[in-house]
Amino acid sequence: HRISIIGAPTDIGAGVRGASMGPEALRVANIVPVLEGHGLEVLDRGNLNGPANPWQPPKDGYRHLNEVVAWNKAVHEAVHAELALGRLPILLGGDHCLGLGSISAVARHCRETNKKLRILWLDAHADFNTNILTPSGNLHGMPVACLCGHGPQELIEIGGQVPAISPKWIRQIGIRSVDAGEKRFVHEMDLEVFDMRYIDEMGMRHAMELALATLDINTHLHVSFDVDFLDPDVAPGVGTTVKGGPTYREAQLCMEMIADTGRLASLDVMELNPALDVRNATAEVAVDLIESLFGKSTLMRK
Ligand code: ARG
Ligand code: MN
Ligand code: MN
Ligand code: MN
Repeated sequence: HRISIIGAPTDIGAGVRGASMGPEALRVANIVPVLEGHGLEVLDRGNLNGPANPWQPPKDGYRHLNEVVAWNKAVHEAVHAELALGRLPILLGGDHCLGLGSISAVARHCRETNKKLRILWLDAHADFNTNILTPSGNLHGMPVACLCGHGPQELIEIGGQVPAISPKWIRQIGIRSVDAGEKRFVHEMDLEVFDMRYIDEMGMRHAMELALATLDINTHLHVSFDVDFLDPDVAPGVGTTVKGGPTYREAQLCMEMIADTGRLASLDVMELNPALDVRNATAEVAVDLIESLFGKSTLMRK
C-alpha cells in the first residue's frame, strides 16, 4: 500500500485544548520514517486548514458546530481524494469529531467501488451522544451517532448520503466510559461493543477474533484509533483519560491481529494531546502501535 499522511491540527470538538498539536507530535515521533522502514511508500501531505477554536459555550447542545462542519468538510475531501488515488490515508488528529469527515469519505469510496465497510472504533468512549444526551456539548463525543444519521443536518450530510453508515458495520473495542443517555442509545441502536468488562473476561484475543470475523477480500477495513483507548498509565497525553484501559501488550495484540487480516485500508489517529504528554511518550507509544498495525512482528509470520 501507498500511504498518505494528512494532518488535521484542531481541537474544535474537544473540551480540553491541545489536540491541535497532535499531528506535529506524531511526526516528531517519526511516524513517516517508521512506516518507510517497513517498505511502505509514504507521502506526508502536510496539514489541512480550518477555522480557529473560538472557545465558546454550547448552543443548542453543540459547541462550535459551524467550525466543526468546516473542519470535517476539509477532512472528508482530503481523505476521499487519497482513496480515489488508490492510496491509504492516515488522518492525524486533531480531536475525534473529525472521524465523521474521515469515515464518511471512506463510506463514500466504498459505495463508489462496491466494497463492504467494517469500522473498528478503538476508544474509551462510545462517542454516540446527541445534542440532547450530551453532558458537555463537545462534538468529539458525537461522531459515531452522526455517522449513523443522528446529528445536525449540516454535519450528517457531509458524506453525500444520510446515514453515511449502518451501525452494523461498527465494532467498538476498549469502551469504559459511556454517559447515561448515551448508554440507552447505544443499546437501542444495537452497536456491537467489546467493552473492558468483555476484554477482562474473554481476553483481547477473543474480542478481536469476533470483531474481525466475517471480513472478506472485498472488505475495506477502517480503524479509528482514539489514543484514549489505551490505559492512561501508558498514554497520559490525551484530554479525556479513563482508567482501566488496554495495557501496552493488549493494545499490541489488537494491532497485530488487525494487521494479520491484510484488509486495513484507512486509519485515524485521534485525540493525542501533546500539552498533556510527558516528553512525547504517548506519541511514541502511538507510533509503536501503528508500526504493528502495518505489519511489524518479532518473527517471520506464517
Ligand atoms: N462522553 C463524553 C462527552 O460526550 C466524552 C467524550 C470523549 N470523546 C472523545 N473522542 N475523547 O462529552
Ligand atoms: Mn472514491
Ligand atoms: Mn475517547
Ligand atoms: Mn473518541
